[in-house]
Amino acid sequence: MYKLGLIGYPVGHSMSPWIHENLMKQQGVEGKYELIEIKPEEFDEKVKMLKTKELDGFNVTVPYKEKIIPYLDGLDQSARHLGAVNTVKLTNDGWMGYNTDGQGFVDSLRNRFPDIFHKGSQTLLLGSGGAARGIYEALMRSEITKIDVANRTTTRAEELIQDISAGISSQPLTLNQAESTLENYGLIVQTTTVGMSPGHDQMIMSLDHLTKGTVVSDIVYRPMKTKFLSEADKREARLHFGHEMLLQQAVYAFKIWTDTEPQAVPLLKEFEQKLKGV
Ligand code: ATR
Repeated sequence: MYKLGLIGYPVGHSMSPWIHENLMKQQGVEGKYELIEIKPEEFDEKVKMLKTKELDGFNVTVPYKEKIIPYLDGLDQSARHLGAVNTVKLTNDGWMGYNTDGQGFVDSLRNRFPDIFHKGSQTLLLGSGGAARGIYEALMRSEITKIDVANRTTTRAEELIQDISAGISSQPLTLNQAESTLENYGLIVQTTTVGMSPGHDQMIMSLDHLTKGTVVSDIVYRPMKTKFLSEADKREARLHFGHEMLLQQAVYAFKIWTDTEPQAVPLLKEFEQKLKGV
């Protein structure tokens, strides 16, 4: 009987219980996944209490992906490199921290569009927050050899590249520079919250320079098809959706906790119906 959960604030609208309960069914595993909302002022006390509860594992979401680190007994390579954790597992050595976000992104993308990896496509990342860092790191470990980063605050794009980049070509850009050179890229990834409900009529930049066949990805999954993706669709881009990443990063967390081989693809259609209904 696995005891699993999610810590964050707020966590009320999370899709994680639905995903993990379905992965338990798929893998024939018994367990419970509960939402553990922790107010920022109670973080220290509540996390210490969690240690006594013997959870087998838990996910960590906003705003605690960095704050949880001092409470852990070890980190995997990706979590150490990023300084951010989204998955914790209770092991014989204590609480181990992992980060499955970037790998979830890259593998859900690879499942749909393997050609962009074969071609080592030039990539444009929009945004420089925690999500952008995880995706940059995972793309860097794939066959992608050029990743430019555009951000509203250009200094944050410079910092991201300085902190994480190793052995690949990377330029920091303003959003305007990126907007006018979209045709240079085979893959464009939108990692900011712009376009997320209730701001669903917003778009980080115009896609006037986008060319047909480019892969355009948006990590926002509410709404499922953001304005950014709708506009990309009109220009005959190939679309990669935020919920595909969400599902795949959960599959990796589940795999870490249970040592099973969970599969995202059989759940995808049902997950899309579920997201449309909420
Ligand atoms: P997360 O960890 O979820 O990625 P974050 O660290 O707060 O969140 O980063 C949010 C990202 O969205 C940043 O790249 C931010 O740009 P700034 O670094 O300039 O703040 C970007 N962002 C948020 N609102 C934006 C907006 N209205 N227009 C453009 N970029 C925006």
